[in-house]
Amino acid sequence: MKRTHTCNVLRKADVGTQVTLVGWVDTLRDHGGIQFVDLRDRKGVTQIVFDPQHTAFKEDLHHLRHESVIEVSGVVVARGEAEVNAKLPTGEIEVTAERLVIHNIAETPPFPLEDEKAEKVSEDLRLQYRFLDLRRPAMYRNLEIRSKAAKATRDYLDGQDFLEIETPCLFKSTPEGAREFLVPSRIHPGKFYALAQSPQQYKQMLMVAGIERYYQLARCFRDEDLRADRQPEFTQIDIEMSFIDREDMYALIEGLVARIWKDCLGVDIPTPFPRMTYRDAMDQYGVDKPDTRFELKIEDFSDCFRNSQFKVFQSTVDSGGVVKAFNAKGLADATQGEMRDLENGAKAMGAKGLAFIRITPEGEWKSPILKFFSEDELAELKERLDIGNGDLVFFAAADWERACSILGRVRLDAGKLLQQRGRISIPEDQFNFLWVIEFPLMLFDEEAGRYVAAHHPFTSPVEEDIPLLDSDPKAVRGQHYDCVLNGMEIAGGSIRIHQPALQKKVFEDFLQIPKDVVEERFGYMLKAFRYGAPPHGGIALGFDRLASTLAGRSHIRDVIAFPKTQRGQDLMNDAPSPAGPAQLRALHIEVNEIED
Ligand code: AMO
Ligand code: AMP
Repeated sequence: MKRTHTCNVLRKADVGTQVTLVGWVDTLRDHGGIQFVDLRDRKGVTQIVFDPQHTAFKEDLHHLRHESVIEVSGVVVARGEAEVNAKLPTGEIEVTAERLVIHNIAETPPFPLEDEKAEKVSEDLRLQYRFLDLRRPAMYRNLEIRSKAAKATRDYLDGQDFLEIETPCLFKSTPEGAREFLVPSRIHPGKFYALAQSPQQYKQMLMVAGIERYYQLARCFRDEDLRADRQPEFTQIDIEMSFIDREDMYALIEGLVARIWKDCLGVDIPTPFPRMTYRDAMDQYGVDKPDTRFELKIEDFSDCFRNSQFKVFQSTVDSGGVVKAFNAKGLADATQGEMRDLENGAKAMGAKGLAFIRITPEGEWKSPILKFFSEDELAELKERLDIGNGDLVFFAAADWERACSILGRVRLDAGKLLQQRGRISIPEDQFNFLWVIEFPLMLFDEEAGRYVAAHHPFTSPVEEDIPLLDSDPKAVRGQHYDCVLNGMEIAGGSIRIHQPALQKKVFEDFLQIPKDVVEERFGYMLKAFRYGAPPHGGIALGFDRLASTLAGRSHIRDVIAFPKTQRGQDLMNDAPSPAGPAQLRALHIEVNEIED
């Protein structure tokens, strides 16, 4: 090694020691001929002093720039009392340079690398120069905590007798919903691999193969529209086990999460996690991934408005829909702009409008629709929503799912406004884990006119609901579970179907996948299940989402070394990029502009 110490270890006790440090020039200051350099490596910063007496340096120092890479040998000396920098762990000492090697002179970086300043720079520029952005201590910490989380995961699962097994990225089309990335085969003209959306089918094959306990930090590829918590390639902690039931899975994951939080943050996560049915989550929070750090629960008022004079509500209930409402307690002072934003949020979830009642601080109820409400209706609202002065009540009338989703969105947006006003607190360092369970097995897709799997088609129905499969498919619950943290889905999984006949029935009778397509896509799975498939189940945790939460970041991009932009690009190397004619020819591919 060229170095004797890192830049974060030298202390007063080391005074007099001869050391060699390496790193980047963090700052460069000239104090009346004496040059001070803050030398930075991944661990921290140490101050180096270049004394003009050592004229040998003079010429060299002249060339030094910010972010240049140097090697310095010298002696550790104590700083004078007035010069001590209490903010730096190494602030009591400095190194008097006796030897300087310049490994590389840096060009001026396109943006400042101090954390506070860099965070204000456009993210595109930072992504273009990701190799510089990652030099920042805050970014280093993000990668460090991710690495710790990976280690905690491996330690824990190894301790639980799991085998880490890699499965192929080059796979064939899977039916998990998201659009796939296709990879043309050179050897088989006209044929394609699909990049695995997850190792789902392979891990099930591993269970048939008798592995019993599998895990993998698996890269998954999905050609989705991207958001803050979505990347086209992301990492899952992927798990599958044989001879277990849902309770075993809850206990395993609770243990894993507790271990990760303990090892990475030193925080004790209480277990077991609370559980909530899908129905309750939607009814009360308007989403299947509720943020339970704050209340503002949604209530159902369908019965109340069944015979209402307000035709919008009455007719919705009449035609099988629901009327729901919640009290954004204390938000009566929402501005016009905020009300417009809330309404736009509701509209994005399919609302036509967003009815509300505003209660002034003096207790006056104000709303364009107030005149339609009877005394009884108002009294019931007041009591059940605990309406007081200064409150703001929102309504949604629609089919159940849409009404829930509309108010779910408004609840989250209103929660943010109340938090900004300091009226509720949604602490970043509070970790509300919960299980959402009892999802429906299948959802009816109106557009396609058929059922689609709520999770994926390998999910087993709840045993006691199996008789309902033919009579009332909508009522069948799946053995599917999601783990939710502060309003974010961090994991999802299920107990699988392991009986070939039932799996075939789900594919053909419910998902209405044509027989030949079932054979072509899943024939090998159905065959495998006929050769002794154990009962099995699994789960996958979104590792990037876990890491971003641990690091206290709202974007998963911050915990991914080389992420893609919202438009799926790597700005550092400009991927995706055109392929040359020879390359395309070898792949039997011709690119044509197709007009939409
Ligand atoms: P699912 O599709 O629910 O399940 O994915 C599991 C978890 O992965 C995370 N995740 C993502 N993270 C970042 N970017 C994305 N584009 C993205 N998509 C999903 C989420 C999610 O909870 N094979 C099943 C698991 C199983 O049944 O065992 C699966 O992939 O946190
Ligand atoms: P309208 O009678 O259509 O003018 O609607 C009267 C009020 O009810 C307006 O404030 C609309 O924004 C609101 N509104 C209309 N339809 C719904 C609905 N389905 N759910 C909730 N509010 C609605």
